[in-house]
Amino acid sequence: MIEINGYSRTCGLIGNPVEHTMSPVIHNNLAVATNENLVYVPFHVETGRLEDAVKGAFGLNLLGVNVTVPYKSDVIPFLTDIDPLAKRIGAVNTLVRMENGFKGYNTDMPGLLRAMKKDGVEVKDEHIILLGAGGVARAVAMLLADNGASKIYILNRTTDKAQAIADEINSYKCSDIVEVKKLSDYSLLPQDRKYLAIQATSVGMYPKVDEAVIEDVAFYNMLHTGYDLIFNPLETKFMKLAKQSGAKGFHGYRMLLYQGVIAYELWTGKDVTDELAEQVYEKMLAAMNA
Ligand code: ATR
Repeated sequence: MIEINGYSRTCGLIGNPVEHTMSPVIHNNLAVATNENLVYVPFHVETGRLEDAVKGAFGLNLLGVNVTVPYKSDVIPFLTDIDPLAKRIGAVNTLVRMENGFKGYNTDMPGLLRAMKKDGVEVKDEHIILLGAGGVARAVAMLLADNGASKIYILNRTTDKAQAIADEINSYKCSDIVEVKKLSDYSLLPQDRKYLAIQATSVGMYPKVDEAVIEDVAFYNMLHTGYDLIFNPLETKFMKLAKQSGAKGFHGYRMLLYQGVIAYELWTGKDVTDELAEQVYEKMLAAMNA
């Protein structure tokens, strides 16, 4: 921890709940390592208090704020500006102090991209299976389309939701890059290649750790990599099944690290090296196991 004095700057997290957050581990360690007089604290914001919280944060001269569930979309009306990516995704997880208020960014998706790079997982020219069609999956589909994926197959229990995402991205890209299938129809995908699959449903998350959105070994045999966005547990059933079929398996904990790293870079104007980020990651792992 840094020594707090009259010059200390404050950043924090607003959400509900915030009690299990790892973000203080990320930012307080980064502050020490980069010699910033900065502290990061969680702020539990009750329902109906979001506008007060954002105004209060500005009034109290906070340097930056992270926003988590359930406020990532609700916070948008209270911003003075919004980054184009966050606007398109419709979700803001980072507020950066400007002269007259906060500007909203989304660092979750750039964080996923940076985590995937670090994990050695390519998006460019890949044929990718995306499992899920909720808010997170929609943002991931945009990220993949923007970063050179050749093809994105969205598989979801409710195909209407997947189709809405496909229509949105295909019209934005003026292409047919996204195709939709029912969750159970993976055997209809071209079988002449192996796929990167990104798991963006909530299935398998603690405490239901014995569940995977698809259980059939035949599906996992189609993969070279299974990337789960869930990080609790650190080894999901989806990852286990992918690995049992000879594919690589990754979880979403590095995405959590890098969304924080990118937010920290926006707040402080400093670049965080991958080496430093990985040192912080070790502390996050230790904190999770504590
Ligand atoms: P988020 O904002 O985190 O993406 P969400 O919008 O609730 O959360 O989306 C959850 C995703 O998990 C959806 O794709 C959902 O499938 P449906 O669109 O069919 O609801 C998927 N999901 C949740 N529980 C599931 C289950 N038991 N089987 C299959 N998919 C499931």
